[in-house]
Amino acid sequence: MIGFQRDGTTLFCDGVPLDRIASAEGTPLYVYSAATIAARYQAIDAAFAGCPHSIHYALKANSTLAIARLLRGLGSNADANSSGEIDVAMRAGFTPPQIVFTGVGKTPAELEHAIALGVRSINIESPGEIARVNAISAARATRTKIAIRVNPDVDARTHPHISTGLKTNKFGIPISDVPDICRHAQFMDGVQIVGLHAHIGSQITDLAPLANAARALVTLASELRGAGTTIEHLDVGGGLGVSYDGRPVPGAAEYAAAVLPILRESGLTIVLEPGRHIIAPAGALLTRVIDVKQAEADRFFVVMDAGMTELIRPMLYNAFHRIEPLVKSNAPLVSCDVVGPLCESSDTLGKDRMLPKPEAGELYAVLDTGAYGSVMASNYNRRLLPAEVLVEDGQWRVIRRRQTLEDVLALEL
Ligand code: LLP
Repeated sequence: MIGFQRDGTTLFCDGVPLDRIASAEGTPLYVYSAATIAARYQAIDAAFAGCPHSIHYALKANSTLAIARLLRGLGSNADANSSGEIDVAMRAGFTPPQIVFTGVGKTPAELEHAIALGVRSINIESPGEIARVNAISAARATRTKIAIRVNPDVDARTHPHISTGLKTNKFGIPISDVPDICRHAQFMDGVQIVGLHAHIGSQITDLAPLANAARALVTLASELRGAGTTIEHLDVGGGLGVSYDGRPVPGAAEYAAAVLPILRESGLTIVLEPGRHIIAPAGALLTRVIDVKQAEADRFFVVMDAGMTELIRPMLYNAFHRIEPLVKSNAPLVSCDVVGPLCESSDTLGKDRMLPKPEAGELYAVLDTGAYGSVMASNYNRRLLPAEVLVEDGQWRVIRRRQTLEDVLALEL
């Protein structure tokens, strides 16, 4: 039994009852299924097997060291979005040639760090950034491999906060400017163009925009190669979505079927940067009911010990996550707003959910929270970052201990 599945009344992770883990480790608690991570990574790898490719797992989705190490062990490479993520990747055992460095605002210190290490590619966001990479590299008498992040002006048809491929978004270089910029960059001693990159957004469940972006990259690569630029790889970014509500969405095989025929025409190596698709369904946030308050005759507020500080997605993107009791009771179904303990009305995990009437002390899981859950947690209201547990081969182990107030105050003078 792989992943989060119910047997009778009890919810399990990889065969281990989740109430046992929550009782032993406390809540709020993130729990991850190693078998799910492996299966989802391997599904992407298999879907692209017909074409030279490398998967650079997007660390921003979840970069806890044990998770990063697990993915490295599966054969993944890494996509880092900051110096911090580069260093976490290195500590997880990735080598610099296994790391691509993306990010819309890389500081000179971050560029210096990536250049000194010799990462596989720096994904360039602007002409100014090419000049900065060139200057730093020239001063070090080295030549840095870069990929141009193209803004293809494609609508990913996802939530506006996580859409990145429109010309109104801050990301990348407008596609029509790229040929001129490449022509110019060819004469720079400190940079070598090795690729083109596009990432149009996240939680994309409509494959047409992804295919359109792939088409834009292939056409541009052919134009640039005709003009004498050497291109080795096309980096199609991440973005493939998951089903949060159980409705069917395209998986890795459908994604590959939509983009591979286009990408293959280029004859180039394909770089993929999936985050959410691998890790979202592999994680759950466990939380305990603190209080149940009657809002109206037939509606309740269920106050949990987890909220926006542990999982900000519902509040920030109006995101839906399934919320389920770890052990189902026979209580009648009632309408609930599942809320957190913080001093904000928008501190909500789920609205209008029909749940067996919850009781204080009961344990719940907020599902599909492996991506952009723990990594976006905060200390607001002086709350402490939750612990994290990895379930592997029928055993669980703590991969990040719960933060203490001493940890937080250690920074303060
Ligand atoms: N590559 C680049 C350049 C990215 O900016 C991202 C995500 C990825 C890859 C991975 O995308 P994925 O495969 O995970 O969709 N916090 C938001 C998601 C922000 C995504 C940012 N960029 C959320 O919780 O929905």
